[in-house]
Amino acid sequence: MTRTVKFDGRPIWAEVSLGALVHNLRAIRKHINSSGEGGARRERRKILAVIKSNAYGHGIVPVGRALSKTGADWFGVTCSAEGVELRESGIREPILILTGFWEGEEQRILENHLTPAIMRPDQLRLLEKAAARSRKPRRGPVDFHLKIDSGMNRLGISPAEIPAFAHVLADCPHLRLGGTFTHIASSEVFTTEQTIEQEKMFESALACMKSLKLDSGIVHMANSAAIVGRPSTWYQMVRPGAILYGYHQFFEPPELNPQMEAKLPVRPVLSFRARIISLKETAPGSRVGYNARWTAPGPARVAVLAAGYADGLVRVLSNKGRIIVRGQFAPIIGTVSMDLTAADVTGIPEARVGDIATIYGTDGGTTQSVPDVARIANTASADLLCALGKRVPRFYLP
Ligand SMILES: Cc1ncc(COP(=O)(O)O)c(C=O)c1O
Repeated sequence: MTRTVKFDGRPIWAEVSLGALVHNLRAIRKHINSSGEGGARRERRKILAVIKSNAYGHGIVPVGRALSKTGADWFGVTCSAEGVELRESGIREPILILTGFWEGEEQRILENHLTPAIMRPDQLRLLEKAAARSRKPRRGPVDFHLKIDSGMNRLGISPAEIPAFAHVLADCPHLRLGGTFTHIASSEVFTTEQTIEQEKMFESALACMKSLKLDSGIVHMANSAAIVGRPSTWYQMVRPGAILYGYHQFFEPPELNPQMEAKLPVRPVLSFRARIISLKETAPGSRVGYNARWTAPGPARVAVLAAGYADGLVRVLSNKGRIIVRGQFAPIIGTVSMDLTAADVTGIPEARVGDIATIYGTDGGTTQSVPDVARIANTASADLLCALGKRVPRFYLP
C-alpha cells in the first residue's frame, strides 16, 4: 500500500485506488445487465456515474477520466462549474447537471454542451431564450432532462404539472426532452412502502407523458441502494454514487446488510492516512487537548497525528473514533482539533514517531472502512468523504 506513496510535505494523504473504482463500475454494469433481474432487455442499460462534489471527495478529474476509459455512459454533477471542469479535462461523455441551473448559468451550459435537469416550467423559458440567442452552431436542439418529484418533496415537477410543462415545451423549438428522471428518498429502507409509492407515482408521470405524446427520452431513477436491491427501478439508466466508491448504504432492517452487500460486492476506493508526528509518555491524570476532554487513567503513551477536522478527520470523532497503527486499533482521545488529533497508543508499545496512522483503510490486516467510521460518527459515509480536506494530497494508484 503506502510503499508506493512517497512525497515531501505534511504527512497526511489519501490513496485512491483506480483499480477498485474500475472494478466497481464493471461490477455495476454486470449486475444491472444480468439476465433475469429487472426484466428481460434487448438494450444494455446505461450508467450515469455520479461524480459530483469532487467525486465524493476522491477527485473529479482523475475519477472522471478513469470511468470514461472504462465506458461510463454519462456523468452526473451538481452545477455547471463542475461540468466545465470535466469538459476542460477532456471528458466528452454527456454530463447531466443533477440539480439543474440557476438563472445566469444558461450560456455556460450551452457552450460546454452540458445537459441541465429542469425542475420548474419557467426554467424552460430561460433555457429556450439562451438557446435561441446562442450564436454557436449546433447540430440540433439543446437537450435537457425533466426531473419529476415522485414523493421526496425536494426538487422536480409533480405528475399533475406535466400538462402545463408540455404546453410550455411546445413553445420551445430550440429544446428537446432527452430524458426523464426522479430521485428516491429511502431506497435502502425496506421497512416502509415509500419507494414503492414513489415508483407508482413515477409510473403515473410517465403514463401521463405518453398520453400527451411527449417522448420521455431516457428514463432513470435508481441510486446505489436501488441498484443493489430494487431491480424494478433500473429503467434504461442507473445513477450510482456510493457503490462506485466502494461502500454500501446502511440498509434497514439491518439484517439485510450482508445479503445486499453480497448481491453486488464492491471494493473501497479510498484510504486516508497520516503519520504520527509526536509521542509522549504522560503521567496518570494528564489532560489531553482542547478543554481537557480526556484524562489519562494511568501512565499513558499519547500519539499525535498530522490530521484534524480541516483534513476531514471529523470533530465528532473526539473521544469516540479510532485509528489503526501497526495493525492495531488505537482510540482517538480528547478533542479533534483543526490540524491535529491525539490517540492513545499505550497498548501499542512498538509505536514510533513516523508510523502510519490509518483513518480509513487497511493496515497490517486490520481494516476500518468509511461506513465503520460513519456508524461511530452517526452520519452517512458520503458526509465523511465530502469532508476530505482540499489540502490532503490524493495519490491515484492502479
Ligand atoms: C439525483 C441523484 N442521483 C443519484 C445519486 C447517487 O446517490 P448514491 O450515492 O446513493 O448512489 C445522487 C446523490 O445524492 C443524486 O443526487
